[in-house]
Amino acid sequence: MCGIIAITTSSNTKVSKLITTGLKRLEYRGYDSVGIATINQGKIETLKDAGTIDRVNQKLNFENLEGSIGIGHTRWATHGPPNQINAHPHADCTKKIMVVHNGIIENYLEIKSDLERKGHIFTSQTDSEVIVHLVEEELKLANPPKSVIQAFKNTITKLEGAYAITLIHTDEPETIFLARKDSPLVIGVQEDTKFAASDIPAFLEHTKKVIILKNGEIGVITPKTVYIEKNGFRVQPKPFIVSWTAESAQKSGYPHFMLKEIHEQPIALKNTINIDSEELSKASKKILESTRIVFLACGTSYHAGLSGFHQIQRILPKKPIYPIIASEYETYSHLIDEETLIIAISQSGETLDVMKALSAARKNKAQVISLANVTDSSIPRLSHISLYTKAGPEIGVAATKTHTAQVALLARLAIQLEFEAGELSKDDYSVQVDNLVQQTPQIVRTVINQNELKAKKLASIIQNQNHSYFLARGLNMPVALEGALKLKEISYIHAEAFPAGESKHGPIAIVETNFPIVMIAPDDWTTKKMLGNAEEMKARGGYIISVTEKDHRITERSDYSFFIPKAFSPIINPISYVVPLQMLAYYTAVRRGYDPDKPKNLAKTVTVE
Ligand code: F6R
Repeated sequence: MCGIIAITTSSNTKVSKLITTGLKRLEYRGYDSVGIATINQGKIETLKDAGTIDRVNQKLNFENLEGSIGIGHTRWATHGPPNQINAHPHADCTKKIMVVHNGIIENYLEIKSDLERKGHIFTSQTDSEVIVHLVEEELKLANPPKSVIQAFKNTITKLEGAYAITLIHTDEPETIFLARKDSPLVIGVQEDTKFAASDIPAFLEHTKKVIILKNGEIGVITPKTVYIEKNGFRVQPKPFIVSWTAESAQKSGYPHFMLKEIHEQPIALKNTINIDSEELSKASKKILESTRIVFLACGTSYHAGLSGFHQIQRILPKKPIYPIIASEYETYSHLIDEETLIIAISQSGETLDVMKALSAARKNKAQVISLANVTDSSIPRLSHISLYTKAGPEIGVAATKTHTAQVALLARLAIQLEFEAGELSKDDYSVQVDNLVQQTPQIVRTVINQNELKAKKLASIIQNQNHSYFLARGLNMPVALEGALKLKEISYIHAEAFPAGESKHGPIAIVETNFPIVMIAPDDWTTKKMLGNAEEMKARGGYIISVTEKDHRITERSDYSFFIPKAFSPIINPISYVVPLQMLAYYTAVRRGYDPDKPKNLAKTVTVE
């Protein structure tokens, strides 16, 4: 979590302005405090405080900072509450070195007490502050004096945990020192300016030329140069040009990124499903060769994994397939060996729980296929085959377009697998692929058009409720889970999803008049039982909201219905049925006065365990 950005330029530009805009683009990573430091005429200048970027900027005006080199940070607090003192950047005792850090330094207490014994004065409660004092100490002790880069490198070897670090020193007023392990850091390359940031949107309006710093790499950037090394050896960086546009990282007239991203789903789906079948064919062969399959992911991506589990299990009914929440990996590690195929799903490609589980699985020689949205991020790099959703950058903290793109990619993979498994003729395969490509974006567009006003109205009906249930069965369960997660994470209404059949085993006890119950009810094998469950809930006064097809019998039992067009195959349902629930969550959050793009206590990329 946390967003960092660093800029060095020889183009006579005041970097504080660019850093402020860059931080705005990174705000989805954390937003409880913010700060910038620049070097101006050999001296550090800093402004920082608790609060969102806009609020702090209004109060302090970051553009007051002069200088053509600087670092900035938007924080998601881990060590120490969000206040002025704990806000980054942090300085050493001499106020010549400044650092911003994303991640967690696990051994900071030992380092801190050692440095305090040596006379260092710490001002914050953060783990990050040890980094600058370590560099200061390294420089102080050396005889003959060490270079800053040497001191920086020695410091990095002493850190345990996860970090993306950018550091500046007044003695080298054009240079930014970088290091990464398990927290993302990317470099943006322009002729006279170099950027380093947690994510590409931070500098996308200035350059599309990107270098992804890899785990264990240490770098130095100046306005004209990029130097990277790993384990003491120089690494030749491989810049690439991102296809994302600067507009894709802006709100473009929408009040929130989340609403924009909901509306971008048809195009995100179209771009994702139009994938070269060669990669899918390789992935399908790995699936067929494996003895068991494990879907590994967190949160919304885990719900996509559940959908993938249902789709693949239908094609390979005898194959053991386990959907696993990545942070629970240890419990299932006995299943993982060289015959196991892991399908890891992550929008950011940087979620630490997934990375840790994958590293452990790789040690046990498991094969790995990954699905990510961010090219060349850490999780694809830990994989044998990397598939990508083409949803464009997702800035809203609550995943929407990347989720439906993940499910669509898994649906496309399932069709490929069915073909490779000999269960689908060549002709049927082509028809299925065509249908998926043609119908999915179209259906989702229709769902948005026909249900947005309804979602808005329903939001005004349920906005004062404190609890809600989301019920489904079978392949529709991932939709219920995702709908509940969306509602709770941005509107803060307690939302619980469970298989409809479970209600009578406990949860129905708290249903009372007007208790909202969302029922995911396509016309499929679950219909009859869902109808029974709707009756049970209605009898207790529940307010039934169905997501269903027009003329489905459940509408007679419902107080409110969203209608979804029938698709060529149920594999589209986990995509189309979730869309009204995204809109319901969005409009409920707005009605309750919350910012859906910045839910409290959350950040988009979770780089802590
Ligand atoms: C919820 C949400 C999170 C993420 C989870 C995994 O809307 O976005 O639950 O899905 O933190 O993130 P990724 O997909 O980046 O691994």
